[in-house]
This record gives sequence, C-alpha cells and structure tokens, in this order.
Amino acid sequence: MFYCFFVLLVVGLLVLFVSCIFNMKFFVCFGLFCAGLISSQPVSDSNSLRLISVFLRHGARTPELRDVYPNDPHKLETFQPMGWGQLTNHGKSMAFTLGKSLRNRYNKFLGDIYLPEAVFTQSTDYDRTKMSALLALAGLFPPAKAQKWNEQLEWQPIPFDYEKDHRDFVLKRPNTYCPTYMKELEEVLQSDDVLAYIKSKRETFHYIANHTGKPINKLSDIFQIYQTLTAEKTLNLTLPEWTKKVYPEEITKIAAKQCEMENANDVLKKLNGGRMLRKVIDNMVAKTEGTLHPHERKIFIYSGHENNVINILAAMGLYETHFPNYSSAVLVELHYLRSRQDYAVKVSYIRDVYKTPEDLNLAKCDVLCPLNTFISLTEKHVPKNYTEECDSPINLDQ
Ligand SMILES: *[C@@H]1O[C@H](CO)[C@@H](O)[C@H](O)[C@H]1NC(C)=O
Ligand SMILES: *[C@@H]1O[C@H](CO)[C@@H](O)[C@H](O)[C@H]1NC(C)=O
Ligand SMILES: *[C@@H]1O[C@H](CO)[C@@H](O)[C@H](O)[C@H]1NC(C)=O
Ligand SMILES: *[C@@H]1O[C@H](CO)[C@@H](O)[C@H](O)[C@H]1NC(C)=O
Repeated sequence: MFYCFFVLLVVGLLVLFVSCIFNMKFFVCFGLFCAGLISSQPVSDSNSLRLISVFLRHGARTPELRDVYPNDPHKLETFQPMGWGQLTNHGKSMAFTLGKSLRNRYNKFLGDIYLPEAVFTQSTDYDRTKMSALLALAGLFPPAKAQKWNEQLEWQPIPFDYEKDHRDFVLKRPNTYCPTYMKELEEVLQSDDVLAYIKSKRETFHYIANHTGKPINKLSDIFQIYQTLTAEKTLNLTLPEWTKKVYPEEITKIAAKQCEMENANDVLKKLNGGRMLRKVIDNMVAKTEGTLHPHERKIFIYSGHENNVINILAAMGLYETHFPNYSSAVLVELHYLRSRQDYAVKVSYIRDVYKTPEDLNLAKCDVLCPLNTFISLTEKHVPKNYTEECDSPINLDQ
C-alpha cells in the first residue's frame, strides 16, 4: 500500500517536473520566437529614412470671390482685412503647426541646421498656398543657434519656388491644359451614372439654388457652395438657417463626389495626380541610385490645395471619397530597411493637423511597401510621356 503511494508520488513529481521543463522550454522558445518575429519585422525610423515628399493643403481661408453666392449674408467687409481667398489668422496657425509637426517627426533626419540643398519647396501661384509654404517652412526650420540672426525672431528666411499660374503644368489641376484629361473628365461628368446621381439629388439642388440665388446644375456648383460655407464655418461665422438641412452632410458628400469624378478612372488618375507621382518615384529611384541632384536633398514640399492632396492619394490608389481638411498633408517616405536590404515606401496622411498622422497601405502591399512593388502597383497611374499622353500642342514637360 505504502509502496504503491510512493510510486504514485514519484510518478506525479516526475510528471510535474517534466511538464515544468516542458513549460519552461515552451516559454523560452515562445520568447525566442517572439523576439525572432519582432527582429525580422521591418521597422522604419529616422535611421531608415532616406527621402520625403510632402503634399499639403493650405490653412483655413476666407471664401473666393468666384465661389460666393448672391444671397450670402456675409459680404467682403466680413473678410477684411484679408480679402477674398486669403489665409485667416487661424489658417496661418494651422500651416505653421503643420511645419512644427513635420519638425517633430523628422527632427533627427533633417538635423537642426537649415541647409539649402536639403529642401525644395514648390507652391501653386496663390497667395494662400505661398503663405502656407512659408509658414510650414517657419515651423519646420526654426533657426538653430548658429543661424539665429535676430534676437526677437524665431524665424529665418527659406525660399520656395512656383510657376506662374498659366504655366503651372505641375501642381495645377490639368483641366485647363491637358486635352486628354479634359475630354475624359467631360465624358465622365456626362456619363449616365453621374447624370443619374444628379437626378437623384434634384430636390437638394433646387433647394440650394433657391436659397443661394445661384443656378445649381452641376456637381461643381455644389463644390463651390461647399468651399464658401466651410470657409465661413471655420471663421466661426453664423451660417444661414437654410444650410442646416444640407450642410455639412449632404453638401460635403456631393462636393466630394466632384473630387471623386476628377479621378474616376485610370486615365484621369494618371493625367491628374500621376503627374506628381511620376516625380516622386523618379526622385526616390534617383536617391537609391545616388543620382539625385542635389545629392543632399532630403525633403520635397509641395504646397497646394485639396486637389493636390486628393490627386496624389488617388494616383496611389489610396483615395476614399472625402474632402480633405485645411492643412491636411500626404507624406511619402523612402526608407532603407537593413533587415530586408531593400528600399521601401511608406505613405502617411495627416487628416487633421492637430492629430498624429495615419499610415496608409497600398492594396496588396504592407505599410512599408518595397519600392519595386510600389512602382509596379502604381504603374498604370504614372504617365510615361505626359505631353504625348495629354495630346498637348504645347510641351508640358519642360
Ligand atoms: C425658396 O425660398 C423661399 C425663401 O427664400 C421659400 O419661401 C420657398 O419655400 C423656397 N422654395 C423651395 C422649393 O425650397
Ligand atoms: C472658432 O471657435 C473655436 C472654438 O471656440 C476656436 O477654437 C477657434 O479658434 C475659433 N476660430 C476662429 C477663426 O476664431
Ligand atoms: C478633418 O478633421 C476633423 C477634426 O479632427 C476630423 O474629424 C475629420 O475626420 C477630418 N476629415 C477628413 C476628411 O479627414
Ligand atoms: C514625348 O512625346 C513628344 C511628342 O510625341 C516628343 O516630342 C518628346 O520627345 C517625348 N519626350 C520624351 C522624353 O520622350
């Protein structure tokens, strides 16, 4: 009896001991497995960063004269001293904040000394985008001690480029200079789908026309009303009572539909945002080959409008129908991943300048998308010869 008990005890202890060893091994293995998993997972940081492209929308602004409607209770006096289509003080603060958040994100990569070769900034030919470029640069490059030239100013001058509006074939929407794009867009806007959509919104269109005192027939008419109401709302002005029924929800949806239609198919995406995507890709490839000029370039900043944010997203297949906020921005980063011994592209979206960016991943790719995969996934939206594909009588590739 005792003997039986002893045998059972020994067997029980053995079982515990073995299971303990098994468990220890299991945990050790599990730990190693996890560590292995983590170290094989590619990471991106300031050490892996090689090149950045930023597409930003200007900050909050006053309405544009071309977008206002006859019955608007808010007249030019309300928008003084800025005038039409200009940044408000709040808008200036937003653009500056965007620059500061880029500094925060890229501090180590950019270093604290401003070097002219490291930065290239291009704006559209609008006061508000030029000012937003300057403000973003002010936030991004506060003078380091060695570059401080005035006790009172936390600012140093940093230049930017722009093309005159009538010669801007780069950041400006192609609906005035790219014949293929214009023709294709017109076809889309006259398609059965779009006409049926407009028909389904007939009552809303009538309602808005009646209250604004402006003919409302096309998606772009609503787009203009959206722009005006949003500018006024952001200025904290009181919107007329009638807007409550249709703004923001309905009007925003219809305005975003116009943005969606401007990128409705592969041809439109290619001739629209594909233009800049081509530049981004060319620059990234040149960086990997050591042929980028200047060699020290680290960041390209493009200061534009909602369409610049939308179109670059659309060309990468990342645009989901919406209307981007003031001072939103798309970041396209080139990384070198030592774990993969390969370059990768990471896209992030600053939807709201006061919040952290959101990483976006291309369909069929990781957040850190291998450069070659990125190139092949976006190939159909990248023009090979823009002038030729636009069927333009003038050279758009100078
Ligand atoms: C048009 O607007 C007026 C007021 O401006 C209003 O009395 C009338 O009901 C509106 N009609 C429609 C169809 O909304
Ligand atoms: C509008 O009001 C909000 C909330 O009170 C405030 O944060 C914002 O600065 C105001 N904007 C302007 C342009 O005055
Ligand atoms: C714009 O910013 C607001 C406020 O943070 C946010 O709720 C909204 O989602 C943003 N809109 C878009 C289209 O990203
Ligand atoms: C693009 O096409 C135009 C018109 O066919 C041609 O003149 C030009 O040389 C081409 N450019 C390049 C870089 O191939």
